[in-house]
Amino acid sequence: MGDDIVETARAKVTAADIFLRKQAREPGAGGRTERRASTNGKAGENGGGRKIAAVTAYDYTFARLVDAAGVDVILVGDSLGMVMMGLPNTVGVGMEAMLHHTLSVSRAGPRALLVADMPFLSYDGGVDRVLTNASRFLQEAGAEAVKLEGGVRVADTIRSLVGANIPVMGHVGLTPQAVHRFGGFKVQGRGRDGEQVFEDALAVAEAGAFSIVLESIPLELGRKITEAVHVPTIGIGAGPHCDGQVLVLQDMLGLYEEFRPKFAKVYAPLGEQVKEAVSRYVDEVAAGEFPTESHSFR
Ligand code: KIV
Repeated sequence: MGDDIVETARAKVTAADIFLRKQAREPGAGGRTERRASTNGKAGENGGGRKIAAVTAYDYTFARLVDAAGVDVILVGDSLGMVMMGLPNTVGVGMEAMLHHTLSVSRAGPRALLVADMPFLSYDGGVDRVLTNASRFLQEAGAEAVKLEGGVRVADTIRSLVGANIPVMGHVGLTPQAVHRFGGFKVQGRGRDGEQVFEDALAVAEAGAFSIVLESIPLELGRKITEAVHVPTIGIGAGPHCDGQVLVLQDMLGLYEEFRPKFAKVYAPLGEQVKEAVSRYVDEVAAGEFPTESHSFR
């Protein structure tokens, strides 16, 4: 018998488990930042020191599938604006869309930690507004943590959320909600700019985030940040030295054809398979070959 208050058959992944993964792999990791993460669990059942595998999902069906495949974290990313809603970037995504998709994913009852992205400007405008918006993800939509973009600028916001018992995943480097400031989806932190990304990551870790997404930065910067912070780094286009990786599901399944970032490995060409399957169906219906008796009732 452990000392958990309630023992469940399936070991649910918590923000604490994700935070402790890094400590399990390299005790004393990240000497520069204070140990202030918002978690209170113990190392153990949920993965020991294994690297963290995260993936996005936006609906019940895919959430069931990726959870059954054993991911540690399901992120309901605001990338849904692009891959689900056909927007050119994530700036047009609002709270209602994020809540709708987060609720759909939570109905899958995933074992993985369920993290929801706070959309553009939803974590600005004062502490009360930020807490109200963040709490909706936990209270109405079933998320277990929120993610927000930014470094030094959002450190106090992260502190407020963590202080209110809302676990926060940070996100630095290429923060897509700042696409108009960056002038496009461009690699960040090359040369001297790397110092700012580094400071941003330290600020987020010190503010109490339980993990930090590093997006589209040089791999050496990914390594430097990973060595410097005590919380796990989860890379997307940040090289192999991060403590974990995250991919957009539509990218890894070859389902989103408009934009193929260099870091997005296609694990299965489902886009091609969908087109082939549906065109076979079209041909069979046109030719009167479908349905057959076996697909009919008597
Ligand atoms: O919105 C998203 O899917 C993300 C990941 C790319 C990290 O933020």
